[in-house]
Amino acid sequence: MTTHDERPRERVDDLLAHMGEDLERGMVPAEVFNDKSVYRRELRQIFGRCWVYIGHVSEIPNNGDYHVRRIGEDPFIFVRDEEGEIRVMLNSCRHRGSTVCRTDAGNTSHFRCPYHAWTYKNDGTLVGVPARPSGYRQLDLGQWSMISAAQVDTFRGLVFATLDPDAPALEDYLGKFRWYLDMQFALTEGGMEVIGEPHRWYIDADWKSGGENFTGDSSHTQMTHRSLLETGIASEAGAGKTGKAHGLHVNDCDGHAISMRVMPPGVESCFNYPPEMQELFTEGGLSEAQLDLVRRGVVHDGTVFPNLSFIHFSAKDDVEKEETAFLSIRTWQPRGPGRMEVWNWTLAPAEASQEFKEKAYRAGMASFSPSGTFEQDDAIVWTGVARTGGTLTAELQDLRFNYQMGMPGMGSAEPIEDWPGPGVAWPSNSGESGLRTFHRKWFAHMTALPRASRPSSAAAGSTSASTSAGEGAS
Ligand code: FES
Ligand SMILES: [Fe+2]
Repeated sequence: MTTHDERPRERVDDLLAHMGEDLERGMVPAEVFNDKSVYRRELRQIFGRCWVYIGHVSEIPNNGDYHVRRIGEDPFIFVRDEEGEIRVMLNSCRHRGSTVCRTDAGNTSHFRCPYHAWTYKNDGTLVGVPARPSGYRQLDLGQWSMISAAQVDTFRGLVFATLDPDAPALEDYLGKFRWYLDMQFALTEGGMEVIGEPHRWYIDADWKSGGENFTGDSSHTQMTHRSLLETGIASEAGAGKTGKAHGLHVNDCDGHAISMRVMPPGVESCFNYPPEMQELFTEGGLSEAQLDLVRRGVVHDGTVFPNLSFIHFSAKDDVEKEETAFLSIRTWQPRGPGRMEVWNWTLAPAEASQEFKEKAYRAGMASFSPSGTFEQDDAIVWTGVARTGGTLTAELQDLRFNYQMGMPGMGSAEPIEDWPGPGVAWPSNSGESGLRTFHRKWFAHMTALPRASRPSSAAAGSTSASTSAGEGAS
């Protein structure tokens, strides 16, 4: 038996066949967190179709600045070319495929392949081929530029790319969730800025465990991070010890979701930003309703599907032990079934002093980074999810995980009727609505019709090369 696109039937097809019904009941098959066929399908249907976060404009301020990044498992160069345009190009030579750029980051006007020295401008144009007069007399350099992502676009300094030329515009993909992203990335006129290099590390857990957690898994804090609360390492306000703050979950924002912990109306917290910085927050163009949620903000955390998450928070920096606001963004990158690579950046408003940025960086490191207390707690519990997903028992017993918390009939909360923002808001921490949103979006992408293959610039290049006479006879 084959699926609609004539692939041999795989375990992923069995799982997807009943997953629509599972989701209706608030359940997710365990195996989606660790199965080879699921993983391969995800790379194509999700990372091959969605807008994927690449990097922040502040990482490449000058022409020629570049970093190597990934879309799914594929390596890309994220670069600002000589004209100032941002490009996202496959890090692969058009000659015979060797990796062109071998360093993580730098500044260059050209990339030269270490194999046979084909050389490209930093906009991807092929400009140098050794032995042209003797070996490539008819080679049309214009046909052999580096391969670009199908679309690249920026929102509030966040650069995304997609491999799908038919993907909706980034603005539409982010949809209603832009209202919530504004509150994190457009606090001030200058927006946010990345501080230092990203941290990178591997976890033996599935990328979805990170993504779903940041959509509003509020109920894990009191257990997973309990030692931080008991020892006082974590911010009392941030970690929810204070009786004043309360939880809000917002889902149904075009597949993306956010959870917030906020003070009651009229009580300010503002993530512990110092007063002189809070004064700048009226200049970012936020509406009164957005500013109110920022001023009352203790924690805002969310996920842009598929694998970009953020947390706006405060923690004690490890030197002065002062509560300091920071914004962490992270990507949960697939690196095999049940395995991910996490990249984490700390950000602060561009207008902040260098001293504040350094403190924010240290506060981020102490909480959300591989050396961070929160991070280590989370990594441990997520590895268990992948381990279970990969068991024979999960397959033999068709094991489902429970995502029913707060569902109709389960939860006591009702949606907030006069919520000023988009999406559906719930006045409670006792729910997994954001996680269900995440998995519904995942399911929709996994079951969408596969993209038809279409001619590419690579095909055009081959046609041109095939006009060379005589080669086949030799
Ligand atoms: S593979 Fe790059 S120059 Fe040959
Ligand atoms: Fe956590």
